[in-house]
Amino acid sequence: MLRFAFVQLKPGTGKTTSAVWLAYAFHRRGLTVGLADADPGKSALEWSDQAGGFPFKVAGLPMKDFHRRADDFAAGADVVIGDIPQIEDHGPIARSAMRWADVRIIPVAPTPIELDRMAPIIDEIDGMDDMIRPGSRTCVLLNRVVTGAASGPSARRVLTRRKYDVLTTSIPRRELYAQSFGAEPDTNSAYDQLATELLEEKNRR
Ligand SMILES: Nc1ncnc2c1ncn2[C@@H]1O[C@H](COP(=O)(O)OP(=O)(O)OP(=O)(O)O)[C@@H](O)[C@H]1O
Ligand SMILES: [Mg+2]
Repeated sequence: MLRFAFVQLKPGTGKTTSAVWLAYAFHRRGLTVGLADADPGKSALEWSDQAGGFPFKVAGLPMKDFHRRADDFAAGADVVIGDIPQIEDHGPIARSAMRWADVRIIPVAPTPIELDRMAPIIDEIDGMDDMIRPGSRTCVLLNRVVTGAASGPSARRVLTRRKYDVLTTSIPRRELYAQSFGAEPDTNSAYDQLATELLEEKNRR
């Protein structure tokens, strides 16, 4: 079982959008998927309701012992994706999810304010010390990237120079994603590319 958690310090950074699109991308390539909504705001669950149900398991687990419950919920799944609430308001749930994950994915827009937030997030994870799963990974997903603008490549350079593990795939800022809440995600999106990258990385390890 491969466990992914979308985590951020602040709300509104594309965690839910990414979790749902990536879950569909894995599902469509034949993997058994579990989507755990750890956010008390329940956006992923709400999305599923509005879409008439997702074609994979989804449950609300907004609990401080998420790390003990998520594997039970997802028993038999190939991949589990956690939509995790912002650390600043829901520290105990977020930390529980961060220790559970094999891969922590931090969605970041290429803007100064979001880039500045990287250090406190990494400090938070470093502060968890030996609670973190051995061999687990923390990586950055550049998202809401304006195609053709310099900010995307520039943010990638800055983050790479600061030694962050930046995923090769980046997610463009597009209406396709902004308007997708409550609907079934399209095929052949940047999230399919992300799914491929994450699975290839797993096989390399
Ligand atoms: N790639 C994208 N392009 C354009 N808009 C996007 C993209 N990804 C997310 N959004 C929009 O950004 C907003 C925040 O996204 P989302 O709800 O996924 O973030 P979140 O981190 O889960 O927020 P919250 O902390 O409130 O749960 C939403 O309006 C969403 O539609
Ligand atoms: Mg959300």
